[in-house]
Amino acid sequence: MDRHLSSSSIAAPLPAADLVSLRRDVAAMLEAHWQDDQGYTAPNDQVYPWQWLWDSCFHALVWTELGRADRALRELEALFSTQGADGFVPHMNYQRDPQAHADFWGRSGRSSITQPPMYGHALAMLVRRGVDVPTELLIAAERGLRFLLERRARDAASGLVLICHPWETGCDNSPRWDVLLPNGFDLAAWRACKGELVASITPSRAGSPVANSWCPIASVAFNALVIFNALELAAVHSAQALAAQANELALLLDKRWDAGLGSWIDAGIGAATSGAVRTAEALLPLLVTDRRDAVERVLADLVNKEAYGTSFGPAGVHPAEPVFDPDAYWRGSTWPQINYLLWVAAAQRGNTAAAKAIAVRTVAAAIRSGLAEYWNPLTGEGRGAIPQSWTGVALLMARAQ
Ligand code: GLC
Repeated sequence: MDRHLSSSSIAAPLPAADLVSLRRDVAAMLEAHWQDDQGYTAPNDQVYPWQWLWDSCFHALVWTELGRADRALRELEALFSTQGADGFVPHMNYQRDPQAHADFWGRSGRSSITQPPMYGHALAMLVRRGVDVPTELLIAAERGLRFLLERRARDAASGLVLICHPWETGCDNSPRWDVLLPNGFDLAAWRACKGELVASITPSRAGSPVANSWCPIASVAFNALVIFNALELAAVHSAQALAAQANELALLLDKRWDAGLGSWIDAGIGAATSGAVRTAEALLPLLVTDRRDAVERVLADLVNKEAYGTSFGPAGVHPAEPVFDPDAYWRGSTWPQINYLLWVAAAQRGNTAAAKAIAVRTVAAAIRSGLAEYWNPLTGEGRGAIPQSWTGVALLMARAQ
């Protein structure tokens, strides 16, 4: 057992009856959020009625777990229905009302930025579970990943893929982006800044986002998920060039590890400042790193109560960081889809004690919070939209306990 894990620091596994009721609640939630006309699951039907890229990939995992791979495939097909000719996959799909927010994005029916390409993992999991995945979907995913690896601008110094907008990471208000606010983080200033950053994106000739000189940030979280999803896809679909590109990027990503901090540091303008704030998403290179020292340190820290390991899963920001706020959106609260990815990484590394601790705490919080979008890591109280579809990933983590 890991030296930071005592048996008392791990909550008891879920009793069988609770697993049955979790499954029933997750199934009811997804059914209530399912949009049959468009073939996708709303993250929450009131707060988030549209289709979001990485949410849909997590929903596909949950639908498959519920025995509805047909819905998983429809949801991924809807996701790629807005894909550009060059492979770019927009992060939002507004097909049910194409004029919604069209002025903001400068295009109708879809947004002009992307999100972590979790479709590589989602499709790989479907294939591993014996689902007959149409080849068109695998090809669409390969094209989406190739857009990011081949057409998206890179940070000159580190060679990492740049984001065109903080929203592309999916971690909207993370303190990692505070460098973009000269007077420090403030909700009103941040809202204005995020709108301006949409306007400053440089599009390719085909209209896809390739750079943004106002946001020269290479997020280690985003790069880790590009690599992870490319390798996942390549594991089930012949895409050797993609795997080679992903492995090259992984070597560059590992140069961003800082042993003193126990985290990977973003490249680009925030490298010396907010790009080094210790956040849970910045530990996602755990999915793809070759550094054994990093693996050992991160897996220990994720479950250690002196580090990220609070009672209800890894805290979204290291509690010793001055910006840590356990209730705030992306500034300390815990997110179930990040926990799921860290759990996958721990299990892949064969660290069953860490994987179990992350799973047990996440499942406990998912239940306690009413399947909330995110929660306070100290109390497990739900925050944001309740219930939120992607919190159904707790079911996969519960079944594995
Ligand atoms: C918020 C999250 C983003 C998510 C979206 C829909 O904007 O920050 O990651 O995709 O909600 O759930």
